[in-house]
Amino acid sequence: MDHRPHRPLFRFAAPSVAALLALTTACTGGTVQGRPGASGLRDPFFPKAGNGGYDVRHYDLDLAYRPDSGELHGTAVITARALQGLSSFNLDLTGLDVESVDVQGEGARFNRTGQELTIRPAEDLEKGQEFRTVVRYSGKPKVVTDPDGSEEGWIRTEGGGAVGVGEPTGSMAWFPGNHHPADKAAYDISLRVPKGYEAVSNGQLVSRAEQHGDQSGDSVFRWRSVEPMASYLATAAVGKYRISTATTSAGIPVYNAVVPELEAKSAEALGRIPEIVDWGSGRFGPYPFSAAGAIVEDEGALGYALETQTRPVYPGAPTVDLVVHELAHQWFGNSVSPKSWRDMWLNEGFATYAEWLWSEDHGGPTAEERFTAFEEGDTEVDPAADSEWWAFPPASPPGPEHISGAPVYYRGAMVLHRIRQEVGDKAFFDLVRGWAADHRHGNVSTADFTAYAEQKTGRDLDEVWKTWLHGKERPST
Ligand code: TRP
Ligand code: ZN
Repeated sequence: MDHRPHRPLFRFAAPSVAALLALTTACTGGTVQGRPGASGLRDPFFPKAGNGGYDVRHYDLDLAYRPDSGELHGTAVITARALQGLSSFNLDLTGLDVESVDVQGEGARFNRTGQELTIRPAEDLEKGQEFRTVVRYSGKPKVVTDPDGSEEGWIRTEGGGAVGVGEPTGSMAWFPGNHHPADKAAYDISLRVPKGYEAVSNGQLVSRAEQHGDQSGDSVFRWRSVEPMASYLATAAVGKYRISTATTSAGIPVYNAVVPELEAKSAEALGRIPEIVDWGSGRFGPYPFSAAGAIVEDEGALGYALETQTRPVYPGAPTVDLVVHELAHQWFGNSVSPKSWRDMWLNEGFATYAEWLWSEDHGGPTAEERFTAFEEGDTEVDPAADSEWWAFPPASPPGPEHISGAPVYYRGAMVLHRIRQEVGDKAFFDLVRGWAADHRHGNVSTADFTAYAEQKTGRDLDEVWKTWLHGKERPST
């Protein structure tokens, strides 16, 4: 079945050399023969997330948001490389109306089933070919509910604005894409909002302009993320924020946006962002991104904080510990990203352990004391110590509803501390820094980590893996 419109091969009498060559290959049977790209990356927990057959290089998202109506108008220009010959390929998108899709400048057929936007280009794409897809869409983006009941996607806030958050699968509610952490890309995100609103996203603010020409009085904010980003870490926040800026000692610009009511309450913790980034750089190696900051929303907006790249989102004024946690994710999760959603402990175990290290380095309980507190359920040392941190092995949550469960965070951190107990401080911190450096802007699995840890430390850590990482029983030392 071929829906392609018939197009004459030559418009003019004298064919170009390129056209002649194309004709020659066509005659010898060398025409591009594509097949459909896979509709999911077979993630063990979210099998439909992401798509096969191509690799996104860059997203250019042009978004206009109207807080009054909650309407979003978007143009997504997606530059990708075909990993196989493609007769069709998918993007993930949920809700919203798709107005048109172009591939390589030509109108493409498309249809939608569930979260899959299937696109059939006018001409098959060749393996290795870089191609551009333009999706025009609009509508009221929806809230996505996770298997564990938490909410993500596009969340409208009390102040009349909204925030887009995506872990694990919410980003498909506000832009079409290859929504799995295995496919990272650079981003340019442009946000157009009515006068009086601020618009904040990841990376650096390239420009901010008031639109006078069209009388709208809208403001357009252009944000750029040059380092690769997994789509669940993209954010777009619209609100009447107060903006503050700073610079770390390494020269990284900090840009914070805070709802006005929480400006005073947030000042202390946000004021320490440069110090926390510097501290993390000492502990984990150079900060992996060229920007930092925070977005502070009303308490009711979200049920959790999220480590959105360079600029985490906080539900209310954050504590210093929470800022340490979300900034630690910039190394662990954002730069070194999971290959699958089952590998979440590599994000959360490290970010939790970073809090333990911060405490140790700043006169609080040491990581050893914290570890013991969890074993003993001592909530004086850590209020979370009585959680069911042993309920399942951190490397294999029983299902997608458990990827942010207590064992992923606390037993994940305990795995790291067990390694430290085995190998000593010097080898342990060499391991942590090596892991962040050797997998910078990459993707990793649990097996990658265990192999790396043994190779880097030269030690057999099988007992740690068996008991703490993979064991079903409650571990004890
Ligand atoms: N990653 C967030 C944090 O630790 C928490 C979180 C929010 C989360 N949504 C999630 C974890 C979905 C796993 C899955 O700060
Ligand atoms: Zn976390």
